[in-house]
Amino acid sequence: MNAAVPRPVIEDQPVFMAAAFAHDVLAGLAAEPKTIPCTWLYDREGSELFEAITRTQAYYPTRAETGLLQSHMAELATLASGPVAVIEIGAGSITKTRLLLSVLPAATAYLPIDISAEFMLESLASLRLDFPGLPCIPVIADFTDRDSLHKAIARCPSHARRLAFFPGSTIGNLTPDAALDFLNALGESLGPGSLLAIGADATSDADILKRAYDDPEGITAAFNLNLLARVNRELGGDFRLETFRHEARVNQAKDRVEMHLVSNTNQEVNVLGRAFHFREGESIHTENSHKFGNIRFEHLAARAGWRSQMVWKSSEHQFEFHVLDRPAEPALTF
Ligand code: AVJ
Repeated sequence: MNAAVPRPVIEDQPVFMAAAFAHDVLAGLAAEPKTIPCTWLYDREGSELFEAITRTQAYYPTRAETGLLQSHMAELATLASGPVAVIEIGAGSITKTRLLLSVLPAATAYLPIDISAEFMLESLASLRLDFPGLPCIPVIADFTDRDSLHKAIARCPSHARRLAFFPGSTIGNLTPDAALDFLNALGESLGPGSLLAIGADATSDADILKRAYDDPEGITAAFNLNLLARVNRELGGDFRLETFRHEARVNQAKDRVEMHLVSNTNQEVNVLGRAFHFREGESIHTENSHKFGNIRFEHLAARAGWRSQMVWKSSEHQFEFHVLDRPAEPALTF
């Protein structure tokens, strides 16, 4: 381990994470329809494959969002000019963070939260070379777990104002109801006066979505299939990867793209000593990416107590970046 990396706060212990993974996989494969939470796509290999997706031509969100941050980030600095602690939710490769931190010279701390421990710590080591004076507090945790998120945020120095950075439209992994709960809980944990800087994709063109989530190079397919490889590696599974195929399905009624792993044959698969049957064509639903076209993101956020301060919209498709704050006093309503 690089000596420059601070010791991480391990909010979710590895043994607990392994048990949670086993539970989610066994419960998900027994369910009808079969489903596994997308959180588990991000082991080390998965995090690297996701990074490779962001470099493909077909996957527009990273390019669109980076463009927005490059052109507008200075505007955010006017809102967050004083001492501010930056909390990044699902920090991953910590790339876009540089654009944010470079306009926040008064940042007092940087607290990245991610489930992919090794990957995040290596990314953080590289960030620290560019921001040598900035105290960094990496937290290894599943941010979709409310309790883990709350404890992670509580590691933040208490006096500075808090700014949550949640790029990539990762919020779209949650259904609108779950996103509402998440934004409420996030606001409660961050406290009044906090800021939220968040990417939200609103692209609706089915062809563009299909291509973005099933790129011609096959990297998204490899990313999705890695989940089965991970089950084999960590849970003694016997999935034969060549008998499953990746599928991206645009679900217009639910404003989302779904990732599925579809069985090419009738077959039985064993995981942790339990047998699961697959019909030919039956799938495991592995991810939802909701797009905030019809439900406006700012409306959802407003219902969760966040007040819109800035909205930047990409010229490449409908990617949006929102900056919101949490009023110190709830508005009086009679
Ligand atoms: C990292 C959750 C934002 O939903 O667009 C990319 C993950 N899945 N290609 C997304 C993903 C397939 C990505 N997020």
